[in-house]
Amino acid sequence: MTDYGFLCRQLCSLSENVTEQITILSNTAALLSDALPDLNWAGFYILCGNELTLGPFVGKPACVKITLGKGVCGTAAERNETIVVPDVHAFPGHIACDSASNSEIVLPIHVGGKLFGVLDIDSPLYDRFTSHDKEGLESFVGNMEKILSLTHASHGTHTSSDIVLDAIRERRSIRRFKSDMPRREDIEKIIEAGLYAASGKGLQATVTIAVTNKEFRDMLAADNASFWSVETPDPFFCAPVILIVLGNKKRPTYLYDGSLVIGNMMLAAHALGLGSIWIHRAKQEFETPKYKRFLEERGILGEWEGVGHCCVGYIDGEPPTAANRRKNRVFWVD
Ligand code: SME
Repeated sequence: MTDYGFLCRQLCSLSENVTEQITILSNTAALLSDALPDLNWAGFYILCGNELTLGPFVGKPACVKITLGKGVCGTAAERNETIVVPDVHAFPGHIACDSASNSEIVLPIHVGGKLFGVLDIDSPLYDRFTSHDKEGLESFVGNMEKILSLTHASHGTHTSSDIVLDAIRERRSIRRFKSDMPRREDIEKIIEAGLYAASGKGLQATVTIAVTNKEFRDMLAADNASFWSVETPDPFFCAPVILIVLGNKKRPTYLYDGSLVIGNMMLAAHALGLGSIWIHRAKQEFETPKYKRFLEERGILGEWEGVGHCCVGYIDGEPPTAANRRKNRVFWVD
C-alpha cells in the first residue's frame, strides 16, 4: 500500500523554497508517477478561463483542452469532487488520451479559495484506485494546495493580454483577510505596479506609504474609524498591509493620478493571489496635524491629500465573484 504520509513529506521537501507553480507541478507529476505502481499517466489540467488546459504531466501526449463538465477531468472540476473511475470505458463521455488507460482518478485542486485545476491519474489496470488511494491522494492534494497558495502562477498557457483581462474581470473587493503578513517581495511588486500607473503629464505626483507595522496599522485603523459614521471593529477588515496613497495638490490631476495608483495596486495584488480593498478617509487622516507631522518627518513636504488606502492581505474564505455588469453603461458612437 502506498505510504501517502511519506509522499506528502517528499512533496514538501521537493517544494521547499520553490516559488514557481510550474516547477512544483512538474516535480509533483514526476513524484506521483514514480511512487505509485501501475500508472500510465499522472499530471495536471489547469483552469484557464472556462476550460481546463493541459499542465505538467508524465505519460503519453494528452488532449490539450477539456471543457468544464466534459470527460472525467471536466466532470470532477465542475462537480468539485474527487471522481474514481474503476472502468473508464463505462464512464459516459470519458476522453481517451492513452488507449492503455483502464481506470482513472481525478481530484480537484483549489488555490486561494478558487478552483485551480485537477490532478488526473490513469492506470492500465481496472479498478486500480482504492479508497486508501482516494483518501491518501485527497490529503496529498490538500498539501499541494497549501504549497501552491504560496507560489506564483507561471501562466504558461495564457497570453499576457489574457492575464491582464482575467485579473481585471476577476478582482473583487475583499472584506475578510487573514492576519498573516504577505511576502515582502509581493508587497514590493504591488507598490511597483502603482508606481507605473499613468499620471497627468507623466509627472507621477503621488506618494505611497507602505504600512506593515502592526502598531502603526492599528493606530491608523482607529483614526480611520473615528472619521466614519459606521460602527466597525476594523475599517481595514484585518488586512495586515495598508498602502496609503497621497496626491500632490499642486497637480490638477492628483485625485485621478492617486486613484489609478490604487487601481493598479489592487490588480497587482489579485495577480499575486492576494486580496485587496480600497478604503477611504485618507483625506481626513492627512488633514490632521498628527499625520501632517508624520509626512514632514519623512521629508514629504508640500500640500498632500490622502486619496485612499489599498488594504492588502491573504483572503480569508471564499473570494466573491463579480456581479453581472449593469446594463446601459456603454454608448457607442460609430
Ligand atoms: N481521461 C481524461 C482526459 C485526460 S487523459 O486521461 C490524460 C478525461 O476523461 O477527462
